[in-house]
Amino acid sequence: MQKSERVNFGSKIGAILAAAGSAVGLGNIWRFPYETGNHGGAAFILIYLACVLVLGMPIMMAEFTVGRHSKASTGKAYSVLAPGTHWKWLGYLGVLAGFLILGYYSVVAGWTLEYILEAGTNEFANKRPDDFILAFEAFSQDPVRPLIWLVVFLLLTHFVIVKGVKDGIEKSSKILMPVLFILIILLAVCSLSLPNAEKGLEFLLKPDFSKVTGDVFLGAMGQAFFSLSLGMGCLSTYASYFGKETKLGNTALSVGVIDTFVAVLAGVIIFPAAFSVGIQPDAGPSLIFITLPNVFQQAFSGIPFLAYVFSVLFYVLLALAALTSTISLHEVVTAFLHEEFAFTRGRAAKMVTFGCILIGALSSLSLGVMQKYTLFDKGFFDLLDFVTAKIMLPLGGMLVCIFVGWYLKRSVSYAELTNEGTLKAGFFNVYIFILRFIAPIGIALIFINELGLI
Ligand code: PFF
Repeated sequence: MQKSERVNFGSKIGAILAAAGSAVGLGNIWRFPYETGNHGGAAFILIYLACVLVLGMPIMMAEFTVGRHSKASTGKAYSVLAPGTHWKWLGYLGVLAGFLILGYYSVVAGWTLEYILEAGTNEFANKRPDDFILAFEAFSQDPVRPLIWLVVFLLLTHFVIVKGVKDGIEKSSKILMPVLFILIILLAVCSLSLPNAEKGLEFLLKPDFSKVTGDVFLGAMGQAFFSLSLGMGCLSTYASYFGKETKLGNTALSVGVIDTFVAVLAGVIIFPAAFSVGIQPDAGPSLIFITLPNVFQQAFSGIPFLAYVFSVLFYVLLALAALTSTISLHEVVTAFLHEEFAFTRGRAAKMVTFGCILIGALSSLSLGVMQKYTLFDKGFFDLLDFVTAKIMLPLGGMLVCIFVGWYLKRSVSYAELTNEGTLKAGFFNVYIFILRFIAPIGIALIFINELGLI
């Protein structure tokens, strides 16, 4: 991408919505509910919120600082800000994480396309809860069908990346994000009106701290990084397109609030529905694909037309939310290949898409015909999810804290956060203290705990 092209999103709100478009995606609506379900509910959510506040917000501001100050994608940013040092490896770690995440994320994104088709052809009508479970299993384990959707989804992403990200991302985010919010709120209301909904709410709101283990902390931290698109330089790459007038602190706060709001509301949609139809909250990655079709059928049982419209609309929006995230992942890797190895942008994009199709195919097959091939007791799909979300992203986040907290000059951080001194910097010292001590030590403790050393 040329320098002139990378300069700015058109407006402050455009910058916020593009970053929110990256953050809000399958992580909120698909991954957050099943991680919450797997880790016992409300207590996990509280720890998650703490991670967003204490780790997520400062690290997002740190990534914004790196991106806007270097005006380079993450693969290059550290060579610009710390030339001749090993910090460049932090950029490379992010690029690798982005590539691996895109590989398995696209599989799930592909599933949303299948569900658009099923909803559109009215396949959900008259199915019982168990039928949805069987249908999902049959589909996700099929050796061919999910692969086709995977390729289609990656080609859609490829198309936007090659066409020019700026207009595509900014314009589509401005329209799609508000529509997504409205729909999510409507669905939450529907879900709460189902019989037995209160059991689901209780699961979401009443913490049971006896279920909190080191694993819950690692899960919540990994989810916070994944959901906020942090730890791999994605938001730092986007910040390289921020204008001078964009307020980094406000933007981080808006993105954090929007992202958390969508995730919690996704929980409000899914758990009352799951309890209402008797689906276990720890069903795992299949959770939204088996509970949501039920919500539509049951909430609108007397009005089939509404059930139909809501199901189609929901999966279309879910696919679009996933698309704004896959674009941001693809962009990190494409920009890196383009800037570092001087491939043309089109060529770089092709390499990324092709590589992700291969990784995605292996991930998808690992849920079906290749189920028996495991490493550390995990299939390829689960392994990629674990290694990226629970190791690479927190590690990347920890290193960004150390970079901005200790290596980068304080005056650079100050100038970026106050837009060259024109804004008040109320919490600047607290922010630097978190970056220097609280966040890196907190992340390290969670890692060490998981290794069983404390
Ligand atoms: N934050 C996205 C989601 O919640 O779906 C996923 C994601 C996008 C993770 C970009 C990491 C990233 F860099």
